[in-house]
Amino acid sequence: MSSEQRSPYVRPRRLRRTAALRELVADVRLGVDDLVAPLFVREGIDEPQPIESLPGVVQHTIESLRTEVGELIDLGVRAVILFGVPAEKDTVGSGAYDRDGIVQVALRDLRAEFGDSVVLMADLCVDEYTDHGHCGIVDDHGVVDNDATLEIYAKAAVAQATAGAHVVAPSGMMDGQVAVIREALDGAGHVDVSILAYSAKYASALYGPFRDAVDVSIADGGDRKGYQQDYRNVAEALREIDLDLDEGADMVMVKPALSYLDVIADVAAHVDVPVAAYHVSGEYAMIHAAGERGWIDADAVALEHLTAIKRAGATIILTYFTRWFAERR
Ligand code: PBG
Repeated sequence: MSSEQRSPYVRPRRLRRTAALRELVADVRLGVDDLVAPLFVREGIDEPQPIESLPGVVQHTIESLRTEVGELIDLGVRAVILFGVPAEKDTVGSGAYDRDGIVQVALRDLRAEFGDSVVLMADLCVDEYTDHGHCGIVDDHGVVDNDATLEIYAKAAVAQATAGAHVVAPSGMMDGQVAVIREALDGAGHVDVSILAYSAKYASALYGPFRDAVDVSIADGGDRKGYQQDYRNVAEALREIDLDLDEGADMVMVKPALSYLDVIADVAAHVDVPVAAYHVSGEYAMIHAAGERGWIDADAVALEHLTAIKRAGATIILTYFTRWFAERR
């Protein structure tokens, strides 16, 4: 556009001139009440254990978990999601549904201590609890058996709800998991416990640090491509979302977040339930690693990334930056 054609009156920079103006006109606002803190609790330890690839994140004891959740509540955080690291793993992942499995113990403790003042979510999967590291029951050919796995998920959902979970969050990507879990919860009288479905969960290389956090390695150099989604597909994400909503999901999730902003935007335009996005371990670790080298300003990038996830359409963000964000206000 030549200068003669340009209107002298249109100057978008006017609204960027001062911090107060920028604050006034910003249309995406990230709040502490949008965030969910993922927390790890490990059986059989006396002291919290640092996780090397997730700086600032630890495997908690029951006691340190209670302290952490109390502090998060005081900082204004509304929700946490728990992951368990059992002392022993087995072929079916029984720690995921045992009454005294580590997450169930933690849920009972937190619910007794904090009641309804924080939303207690439980990741519902068996990979942390199986000796082969898969998210389900593995058949003789090393393939995850969908329907055999569903029976285990149903038991885990009831165990978590009975222990005090407000929300169960199935993350295993088995077909029909939401329906089976809803039916099991209702059958056990837990009609009020909601389901946050990890609906569009991609087979991603960004889960690496998480697997350190929960001591998982997949047997025989395996991967999850047989059940998690292929990142070349986007229509399939909407199909997974529709199925989960039909089956009774109360909220849906896209995971990971940053490389999937297009998927988040499509899903947000498509549904009328809350949309969550999981800013995963690798996304967190990359920011820390580059920040430590002085190559980026880690705090500024963290804020930019989380805001982008919200701008794309997520109303709930699961992130390891939750406590940092709550403290910086
Ligand atoms: C499965 C589960 C995983 C994550 C959340 N739930 C791991 C996987 O699918 O391999 C990853 C979260 C992260 O990377 O932060 N229980």
